[in-house]
Amino acid sequence: MIGTANTWGIIGKSSMLRLVLARFFAIGSFLIGIFAIGLFAIGWSFATPLHAADSDPVETLESLETDRNMRVFEPESPNSTTIAEVTYLLIGIQAVIFLLVGIPLCIILCRYRHRKADDGIEPPQVYGSNPIEVAWTVGPAITVFVIFLVTTRSIYEIRAAPAPPEAVHVRVVGHQWWWEYEYLEKNESGYTSLFTTANEMRVPLSEEGTPRPVYLDLESADVMHSFWVPQLAGKTDLIPGRVNHMWFQPEHAGWYTGQCAEYCGTQHAHMWLRVKAENKEDFDKWVANERKDAVTDPTVAAGRTLFLTNACVNCHTIKGTLARGQVGPDLTHLMSRRTLASGIIPNTKKYLLQWLRDPDSIKPGCNMPQMKLTDDDYNKILDYLLTLK
Ligand code: CUA
Repeated sequence: MIGTANTWGIIGKSSMLRLVLARFFAIGSFLIGIFAIGLFAIGWSFATPLHAADSDPVETLESLETDRNMRVFEPESPNSTTIAEVTYLLIGIQAVIFLLVGIPLCIILCRYRHRKADDGIEPPQVYGSNPIEVAWTVGPAITVFVIFLVTTRSIYEIRAAPAPPEAVHVRVVGHQWWWEYEYLEKNESGYTSLFTTANEMRVPLSEEGTPRPVYLDLESADVMHSFWVPQLAGKTDLIPGRVNHMWFQPEHAGWYTGQCAEYCGTQHAHMWLRVKAENKEDFDKWVANERKDAVTDPTVAAGRTLFLTNACVNCHTIKGTLARGQVGPDLTHLMSRRTLASGIIPNTKKYLLQWLRDPDSIKPGCNMPQMKLTDDDYNKILDYLLTLK
């Protein structure tokens, strides 16, 4: 026999241990809850009130990092605003439930704890109470029902929004590990392709009375990816053999940043994406330039020939040349982009050369092979690429 009734009262040692453990875990979970709320509040207060970054060109790796705003609580589009509001509502409901359970629990555990002076007799045991059981069944049921209604309505509102005539249509194709954007023009017979670009999407701002939301058709060339620009919209997956849809409508000019949100292989974390919202005039200028064929600069003819006679053409397209590859990004207007390698390095001479010579040093495991050319040849190809504005 371990312990006696005299030492432990009539509940016995193991029950005592259970009581102590129960108390320990109850108070523990309450403290963890408080800790989580505290962390949230601290994170919130330290967050820089970052708007969509302005359009200054990015020069360094550091600025690419600091430029990234992945905060769902700073929505800049009607649908991301709806999502943020639903999230606030859910956090509010959870906080109320947490306090309703946690505070009485702590009071009861402290106030009615086991005391030395207790006579060791079990308190009256109550088995079953209809009013209480009805209350704690109906209460949560109503809460869940309210959450269900609010969520369903929000999903429906976002899904059902029809594309106005001024909407921009882009076909997005997820690749390991970059984004392809094909801009489409809507006409009577459906859609025709305007041009294709990669990793950086540009969209026009809406104006009073002229909404210009961006409608995306999401597809995948290989595995599942997920298109996620937190300030603009919720996540939507890109699934092989299927076309998903989403839309957003930026409220301010500037760069919005995002990230592939579905694990898609070794370089998943380096599948960034950027969306630039700009006024209609600038957007139209950009579109007009993107639709043109690549410039042919005679001073870089050597590099151009090298590009067209090496394996580069198997993967990349340069409009107006024989390069028609579909595996890698379209390079026709490469130098109109701020970044390379799906947003992770600045699009500068230095990084472009490093990318050409040794892509694995930047994105280990990526599908761009090392070409094993001479330094002279790399420099010539570099000079050619630098003209592709
Ligand atoms: Cu693409 Cu993760």
